[in-house]
Amino acid sequence: MIYAGILAGGTGTRMGNVPMPKQFLLLNEKPIIVHTVEKFILNSSFNKIIIATPKEWLNHTQDILKKFGLDLPNITVIVGGNDRNQTIMSIVNYIESNFNLNNEDIIVTHDAVRPFLTHRIIQENINNALEFGSVDTVVEAVDTIVESEDNNFISSIPRRDFMYQGQTPQSFNIMKLKELYNALTESEKEVLTDACKIFAIKGERVKLVRGENFNIKITTPFDLNVANAIIKGSLDK
Ligand code: CTP
Repeated sequence: MIYAGILAGGTGTRMGNVPMPKQFLLLNEKPIIVHTVEKFILNSSFNKIIIATPKEWLNHTQDILKKFGLDLPNITVIVGGNDRNQTIMSIVNYIESNFNLNNEDIIVTHDAVRPFLTHRIIQENINNALEFGSVDTVVEAVDTIVESEDNNFISSIPRRDFMYQGQTPQSFNIMKLKELYNALTESEKEVLTDACKIFAIKGERVKLVRGENFNIKITTPFDLNVANAIIKGSLDK
């Protein structure tokens, strides 16, 4: 089976003083999360789309799905976790409790606040997760990446042509993800905030899929302005 996991369990602290978590803010008259879910329902490969939100926003999420005609039988809303990986694992646990998990099953996980992903990105995630078991979506780094281990002086400047910036989706063989995550110590769980890093650090190959520069994550009020400009640009075409 092929599952989608929409990660909407955050509260968006970096968005500042707004009345609701950023995934519910409006972009061109529709909540950001609705734009994102709409991209997923266009791909008929998904057997189930699971959205994870903060507990107190679960009813609100169900209400907006209904309002925008997305209260479909293959979409379920559940409660997420305390951090991003825990939200992914809540989705995995939900899948395991409700369906027969088998060795071939994959999940395409995606930030609810990246509404501009494309059909190509989703399809390449599915194809490569089925073939390789783990996938990250990336774009080539345009700026030089400067590393500073003391946050004060440069410790290294890696070759830019080997550097990428991570986006989502990130897609995984579900059983492998579960096995690797459950084997982590509590302190590893705290630092391994990126799910692909769990695979990479445990020596698993993670296949790269090309993202898009416009597949931005809406994090700050500035990003919301950029997102509005992207939407407006696509409507003007
Ligand atoms: N996320 C999640 N569960 C969490 C934390 C984050 O599903 N416990 C999701 C967010 O809802 C978002 C995505 O992960 O779609 C990317 O995270 P980020 O941009 O950091 O979102 P927030 O944690 O909401 O924002 P902030 O860090 O500013 O508080």
